[in-house]
Formats: sequence, structure tokens, C-alpha cells
Amino acid sequence: MATLTTSSKRPYHIIVFGATGFTGQFVVEEVSRTCNEGPGGTLQWAVAGRNRDRLEKTLVLAADALRKPELKCVEVIVADVAEPESLAIMCKQGIIVLNCVGPYRFYGEPVVKACIENGAHCIDICGEPQFLEGIQLKYHSNAQEKGVYIIGSCGFDSIPADMGILYTQNQFRGTLTAVESFLTINTGPEGGCGHDAMWQSAIFGFADSASLRRIRRKFGHTPLEAVGARIKKRGALFFSKEIEQYAIHFMGSDPSVVRRTQRYMHKEHKHSPVQYMAYVGIGGLFSMLKTLFAGVVFWFMVKFSLGRGLLTEFPEFFSFGLFSKTGPTRKQMDGTSFSLRLMGEGYMSGHDPSQGKPNAKISTEVTGPEPGYIATPITMVQAAITLLNEHHCLPNKGGVYTPGSAFARTTLIDRLNKHRVQFSLKNGQ
Ligand SMILES: NC(=O)c1ccc[n+]([C@@H]2O[C@H](COP(=O)([O-])OP(=O)(O)OC[C@H]3O[C@@H](n4cnc5c(N)ncnc54)[C@H](OP(=O)(O)O)[C@@H]3O)[C@@H](O)[C@H]2O)c1
Repeated sequence: MATLTTSSKRPYHIIVFGATGFTGQFVVEEVSRTCNEGPGGTLQWAVAGRNRDRLEKTLVLAADALRKPELKCVEVIVADVAEPESLAIMCKQGIIVLNCVGPYRFYGEPVVKACIENGAHCIDICGEPQFLEGIQLKYHSNAQEKGVYIIGSCGFDSIPADMGILYTQNQFRGTLTAVESFLTINTGPEGGCGHDAMWQSAIFGFADSASLRRIRRKFGHTPLEAVGARIKKRGALFFSKEIEQYAIHFMGSDPSVVRRTQRYMHKEHKHSPVQYMAYVGIGGLFSMLKTLFAGVVFWFMVKFSLGRGLLTEFPEFFSFGLFSKTGPTRKQMDGTSFSLRLMGEGYMSGHDPSQGKPNAKISTEVTGPEPGYIATPITMVQAAITLLNEHHCLPNKGGVYTPGSAFARTTLIDRLNKHRVQFSLKNGQ
């Protein structure tokens, strides 16, 4: 099948699948805000999910929230992950499926399969390395043959980190060899939390970390060459001078996604690979003790099915309020923001990275609104808008890609800068 372009005779540029979900509803709102950014200034779109009534209710809620009554007339497609035929019918109608149905380890694969078989590109907001790497292993060649782009992790996991490293590399005059990132999330007086599905993704991801090692063995990759001085891994818990608070290793998908992008850019474009370590701030002494205690309880309970059952049943209790079944309120979301500081080092132009210590530093930052349900819909929708408008700047062939490998040569960063997710240079050489 030929690579799809926006001239395809399909009724919709974008189909939001899982529109009734906690995240899906905000993706619906974000799509409706960006309608004039579609090809030729318009965007044909529809919502999809397994229940027509709930989809119609989602549209009514979005129409009220944005004061756009016309949203009630957006087309509805009924499709269920458990019914492949319904997925095929959905995929045939769209150029891109924005898949918001998760946890992806449970629901994601049939959607990827249906997209490839029926010629629709697929963008998701998965933060589960097992799923993302497993899909690449299993479907990359099929997607390539069909000219379909399957682009995972286009939410807060992991566009800021993945595109942030490429941005830092572009700003650096010389060879950037290593980056450490420091994430901080600032909540307002109302506090904030993540929705249940994210918590479940974490529980089942940790419980099944052995399958990630199996997938990686099957890839059989040789380790990516470490250019320049080797980056040092910090301790499990430390006080970070960079963000002036205690920090731990970031357990999300960023390191996995960044490494895949760096491998791709090295292999396909001969870019010098960047070593990467990701950390997240956890606050002062009290928060540090609380996180430590919650971490030990989580680590112990996640190993047993009874423990996983309890963790799943009582997210708020076991996460110390970090996750809840109801998710954050709009007020909480409005008061929350994130900052991802990227501290890089390397060798100035004309200096050989194989000789001596790095002689230049750089610091960049990606900032944005509440990560899970404001920034994620923005990055996901802008990824789709970029794919629609700049199809010719993506890799020549379809396939399963990270955001960085798909969008390195596009204007995605410029587009995000105009949509509240800002990339900036703090200190150059
Ligand atoms: N990358 C990031 O930073 C980021 C941010 C936010 C969310 N996420 C991820 O996005 C995913 C969704 O999160 P959420 O909080 O929105 O979850 P959610 O509220 O539980 O929504 C799940 C959605 O999946 C739908 N669904 C479930 N089973 C289905 C099936 N068999 N067929 C069709 N649809 C089905 C649900 O439809 P019904 O309404 O019919 O039940 C609902 O629309 C999670 O994996 C989460 O981790 C990632």
C-alpha cells in the first residue's frame, strides 16, 4: 500500500479513539481548538469509542466547556478493542487514529494491528516501555511495508524529553555527548494528581519488568557507543543542586524512548549518540521521606497479585494522593505546571570527543502546563498536525517510531512553542 497523504479519500484527518476517557475528553477539546491548523486550514475529525451514548455525552461536555455548540455535531464512530471488525471499520475512515485507550499493555496491540492493516497512521500517549518496544519489535516491518507511521509516546511521556534532547543537540556548537534531565512538577494551592489509568500502567509495568528484558534480548542490539566521557549514574536518592530539591531516578518511559531515538539517529543519520540519565525532583525532606516509604511499599506489593489488587483498588491511599480514581479537577490542573531542565556537556567544535574531558556545557529547558491532561493533549494533537502537514519531512518509509525519530526534521518544536509547551536555551557555551 502506498504511503498515505492528506489527499487520501478518507472522511477524517483525525479520529480520537477512547474519546470518553479521562484523557480522551481533553484530547477532544484540544483537537477542536486546533481545527484551523489542519491541511488547508481545516480539520475533518471524529470521535470513537465503544459506547455511542458516552461519546455523545463527551461531545456535549466539550461543547459546554469550550462554548462551542457545534461540537455536538462531530461524527461518532463505535469501535471496541475486543471487536477487530469494528476497529477495521474505524481505521478505514481516518488518516490518523489518536489512540487514547490504555493501559496500552491491555488494549493497545489490536489498535496498532488494525491501523497497519487498514492504512491509518497511529499516534498514542503510551508511557509503557514494554508495550512501545514490543510493538516496534513485532510491527516495524509490517508498518514499513504498508507505509503506515505508528508513533508511540507522543504525550508528556516522552515528547519533552525526546524532542528536548534533539533541541539541545541543535543548540550546541560542537558534539553534545551527555545530558541529564531534571523534572519538576509544581502544583498550585489546590494540589494535583494523576488519573487511575496511569497508576495501573505503572503497577503492571513494574510487575512485568522481566518481559522488557526479553524484548531487548530479541532486538539483539549491540550497546550504543558512548561518545566522550562516560556519564555517571547518580545515587538512587540525592540532593540535586540543579533543581534544589531531593531527586530520584525517573521511572517513566523517557530513558527508553530517548535511547531508541538516539540509536535511530545514529544509524540512519550518523548523528553522534547522546548518553542520557533522567531524574525527577521529589521536594524537601518531608516529601523525600514520604516518597521513600511509598516507594518501598509499592516495590514490595507490586510483586504479588494480592498486592497488585490492593494497589489497583486503592490508588489514592497507596500513592499518598499522587493518583486517584477521579483524576485531578480542572482547578488543580490549571494550577499545575512542569519544567524539564536538560543539562548537557560535550566538546566544542574542532575538539575531538575521544580526547580528554568535555570542555563545554549547555542547559536548556522544556516548560509547560499540567503534564498529564493539558500538556499531553497538546503534544499529541500537535504531533498529529505535524504528521498531516509535514508528511514529507518524516522518515521515508512508514514504521514504528519514537517521536524524535519521526519528527526530528519537522517543525514540531516550533508548533509546540506556540501551544504552551516551550523549548528554550538557558545557558549556552
Ligand atoms: N503519556 C502521558 O503522559 C499520558 C498522560 C495521560 C494519559 N496517558 C495514558 O493514556 C491512557 C488513558 O488514560 P485515561 O486516564 O484517559 O484512562 P481512562 O479514563 O480509563 O480511559 C480509558 C479509555 O479507554 C476506553 N476503553 C476501555 N476499554 C475499551 C475497549 N475494549 N474498546 C474501546 N475503548 C475502550 C474507555 O472507554 P469507556 O469510556 O467506554 O470505558 C476510555 O475511553 C493510559 O494508558 C494512560 O497511562 C498517558
